[in-house]
Order: sequence, then C-alpha cells, then structure tokens
Amino acid sequence: MRHLIDIMDFSVEELQELIDTANDIIAHPEFYADRCRGKKLATLFFEPSTRTRLSFEAAMYELGGNVIGFSEAQSSSAAKGESVADTAKVISCYADIIAMRHPKEGAPLVASLNTSIPVINAGDGGHKHPTQTLADLLTIYREKGGFENLTVGFCGDLKFGRTVHSLIDALSRYEGLKVVLISPDELKLPSYVKKDVLAAHGIPYKQTTDLEGAMPQLDILYMTRVQRERFFNEEDYLRLKDSYILTPEKLQNARADLSILHPLPRVNEISVAIDGDPRACYFKQVLYGKYMRMALILKLLKEAGRL
Ligand code: CP
Repeated sequence: MRHLIDIMDFSVEELQELIDTANDIIAHPEFYADRCRGKKLATLFFEPSTRTRLSFEAAMYELGGNVIGFSEAQSSSAAKGESVADTAKVISCYADIIAMRHPKEGAPLVASLNTSIPVINAGDGGHKHPTQTLADLLTIYREKGGFENLTVGFCGDLKFGRTVHSLIDALSRYEGLKVVLISPDELKLPSYVKKDVLAAHGIPYKQTTDLEGAMPQLDILYMTRVQRERFFNEEDYLRLKDSYILTPEKLQNARADLSILHPLPRVNEISVAIDGDPRACYFKQVLYGKYMRMALILKLLKEAGRL
C-alpha cells in the first residue's frame, strides 16, 4: 500500500509524473471529471485548515468522487479518547482514501500503519506537509520551467514551518540548489534539517537575519507565517511575529523574475500591496495545490487497485 507521509516517499520521477498529470488536468479538466465516480475521500482534520481540507474536497469532487470527514477533533470520537490507530481502522470501512491533518508529529504515519487504504499526510505538527510541497513544486515548475540551479530564500519561521522542511527535502534532490535561510535567531531551521538534508546533499546554504541583503540573489522567496499555535508562550510569539514584513520597498533590489511564494495563511508577513505585483505567486500556488491533490488522489487510488 502506497501512502504519502513524507515528500521523500516519492522519487523525483514520481513527482514529475504528478506534475505532468496536474498540467494535463489543467489543460483537459473534462477528461478527468468522472475518474473517481463512486469513490470516497475521508478528510480527517484534527487541526484547523482552509486550503488543504477544502482543496482536497474540491479535488475529489472535480474527479467525480465524494467526500466524508470532520474538520475538528472535537466533532469526532477523538474527543472521547479514541486513538488515531482505531480511527484509521474504522475509516477504512467507509472510505477509499484518507487525508489526515493532526497536531502531533507522526500521527498520519500511525494511521497508515493501521489501515488498508492509502493515507495522505495533510500536515503533522511542526514536522512535514508534503501536499503543500506538491503545490509549491507545481508553482515553481510553471514559473521557472524546472528545478535546477535555483537560489531559494526561506524567510520567517523556519523552526516550526513544516512547509519549509518538506520543500527543502524535495528540492535537495535537484542539481545546483542554493539555499538562503532568513529568520530570527529563535526561529532558525532545525539542526536536523541542516545536517540530514542540506549538509548531507552538499547543498550550499547560509543563515542570515537580513532579508533585504539576501534579496538580489534570489530566484524564489518563500515567505512563511510565524506559527503562533506552536509557541509555548504568547510573549515570545508577540515579540517575533512581525520579524519580517515584505513591502514593495523591500523588493527594490529583487530580480525582475523573482517568484514570491507563501503557503498561506498570511498574517502580516506580506503586505497586500504586493498582491498585484507580477512576481507574487501565492494565490496561483493555492490553485495549483488543488490540481496536484487531484493528481495525487488518482495515483494513490490506482496503486491501491481502487481505480
Ligand atoms: N497552506 C495550508 O496548509 O493552509 P491551511 O492551513 O489553510 O490548510
């Protein structure tokens, strides 16, 4: 049984296959409109979400399938103490595929080990968010034409930002990657990502607190929100939350072909004045996420023999 728990579960060739399918869905949506007729996706969201849950639901509906699920732990039997393992076993009696978001790192992995249907990690704590990475990859592919020889700046909460961890994993397999890590000292990229991913692949990287200083060299700027829900005290969050606010002035030394990405939701870290800039890609990124989730559902259901 194939699952998507970590973006590294898929080879570079499989990621390209998903990108090619998503591009084909964009070009020929009618060809896919009935592919999942009679199939059910279960969205098990133990943590808030707008984009991920609703894009999974839109993806399944646009494939002709159906959706069941819940959007908060309190409306499920988790509130009565049911385990993730039991929940997964139960859902496999009702659905063909699961998308799960959970505040605890590793919960979707536990689900995958206790069910007979494919499980997709829709975000686990401050750990990984592989389907956001699929959205990011399609955005980069369509903006830049490929993944080689890119200089990517990650800015904001690199400690708790699970989308950052997953995208660094994914990009580490392409030639010529350079990484600039822009964050306050308290929100630096975890050492295990620097050691096990960047250093292990020989990827040149530098750490800085200076966004404007880093700007001229960047092909991609990946902005992130400071993750209030992961802080242990509100005081630290309030001190750090506005560390970086991207404004038109801060883009003065940026390249004309810079692509600005953000997984969203945005709080203050990108001024709305940037939204009309042709370099702002974050709302396209949202749309591309739906197409990549369609491609992913098709792949996992096919591999499970359910299509
Ligand atoms: N990017 C993302 O995961 O957004 P949601 O939390 O709204 O799903």
